[in-house]
Amino acid sequence: MAENLIVSISSDKKERYEILLPQIESLVTGEEDVVANMSNVVAALRQTMSFFWVGFYIVKKDQLVLGPFQGPIACTRINFGKGVCGTSWKEKRTILVPDVELFPGHIACSSDSKSEIVLPALKNGEVALVLDVDSDKLNDFDEIDSLYLEKVMRMVEKFI
Ligand code: SME
Repeated sequence: MAENLIVSISSDKKERYEILLPQIESLVTGEEDVVANMSNVVAALRQTMSFFWVGFYIVKKDQLVLGPFQGPIACTRINFGKGVCGTSWKEKRTILVPDVELFPGHIACSSDSKSEIVLPALKNGEVALVLDVDSDKLNDFDEIDSLYLEKVMRMVEKFI
């Protein structure tokens, strides 16, 4: 496992993801502990992409429960179909929210959060967890984030 993360200072988001993804792959390869891997994935994402908040919510019974994250403290439990995270779980798809105020039922863990992207990871065809990324800027995520974060979720699916 790499001990240091090489962080691109490029202002090009695509380039930063391109440099980050192989490093995430190598961080989680050879480590079987799920919590350790999730922790390093969110730390690497925050360190490289400077996200305001990034973390996992894990499906436990009928709720999502807060998992490893980086950023300010957050809500611990989210019900199925509620908020952006619960909707991503219910619909088994990535949800990109350019303005959280306009998303019906959005759960405001922080009033500083302005836009958000949530992506599910599946195990045996069911959502096992979601990755939630929040920004304190409006309209901060686009198809480049969906594309690369979905690649990250495919890596996550290998270790969960
Ligand atoms: N905003 C999310 C809740 C999680 S926090 O943003 C960390 C939602 O609506 O599901």
